[in-house]
Amino acid sequence: MKSTESLPARRMETLAAAAGSPGRTARARRWLGALGALPVLLFLAACGPDHLKHYPQTTFAPTTDYALEQDWLFRYVLIMGVVVGIIVFVAVGYILFKFRHRPDGAEPAQTHGNTTLELAWTLIPAVILAFIAVPTVRAIFITQAPASASALHVTVMGKQWWWQFKYAVNGGRDTVTTANEIHVPVGQQVELTLKSDNVLHSFWVPQMGGKRDLIPNRDNKLVFTPKEPGVYYGQCAEFCGDSHALMRMRLIAETPADFQRWLNNEASPAAEPTDSAVMLGKQLVTSKPCVGCHTIKGTVMAGVTGPNLTHFARRRTLAAGIMDNNATNLGRWLRNAPHVKPGSKMPDMPTLNLKEEEVPYVVAYLQSLQ
Ligand code: CUA
Repeated sequence: MKSTESLPARRMETLAAAAGSPGRTARARRWLGALGALPVLLFLAACGPDHLKHYPQTTFAPTTDYALEQDWLFRYVLIMGVVVGIIVFVAVGYILFKFRHRPDGAEPAQTHGNTTLELAWTLIPAVILAFIAVPTVRAIFITQAPASASALHVTVMGKQWWWQFKYAVNGGRDTVTTANEIHVPVGQQVELTLKSDNVLHSFWVPQMGGKRDLIPNRDNKLVFTPKEPGVYYGQCAEFCGDSHALMRMRLIAETPADFQRWLNNEASPAAEPTDSAVMLGKQLVTSKPCVGCHTIKGTVMAGVTGPNLTHFARRRTLAAGIMDNNATNLGRWLRNAPHVKPGSKMPDMPTLNLKEEEVPYVVAYLQSLQ
């Protein structure tokens, strides 16, 4: 019944508003103030010193030649757009005010065709577009340039839903295969060959550069030179099925010495267990259906459906970058992977023929794979 009671009051308010009461003006001013503050707040929220901590996938902190070029072009075009926008709005505002309708105003002069004006509004935009086109075409050539002879080659395969990275080692006689964490040396050009043996994916590590698709039956290239060591976040940027949003990755840029150490370690066979619990874990993993899908170099395991686990414990994350790589999360993953990652090819515990009491041993073995 409340609405009937307040009805006359609301009617009064509406009438007062229609009459342009001072209450209405104050309210409108408050609203306008709030609206004006919104972009400022959003701007400040995005640009604090913690920007990278809150937005690790920012495109505004480029760290490769490729990303710097893109960033520069974006800022250049943005500034030009803002300048043109301000000029246009000021001019329109001035004209609207100066030539506004006046009750006793005379009819303005009627103009039919003005060559000078027509030339000006054709030529000025053409010149502006040329100033945008030249650096754009330059950026296209820079970001699509073929790799130099000294580039590090990594083959990236998009999977549902994880990333496989392959490096040729020992002069191409051997291959290092890893997953979800791509290591690259700082200061050396990197050439990624992007492939897919299933659906479309898109490789995107924003601080490294733009997105590039992984397309079945076609090899795409992405060439960049990392400039700063760090761990950079990335993810799949092309819808690829149930767990597309859970197809993440880390790009680890490190000094050439650290990179070489990592690569040498990856090339070596898996550590042989010495601890009895770890030994039991190994026995379990190498006798269960895990064998069909995973490779662990130095054991009987040579499956290729799932990620190579030879040095699994060295990875920071698991299940394609969605969780920290620790015992709790690994247990969760082993117990019910399809629950953690819908549609995952990694089955649940009964399908793996894995018992609850065996999980800690499997975890211990996987954590020993340094
Ligand atoms: Cu792979 Cu989306």
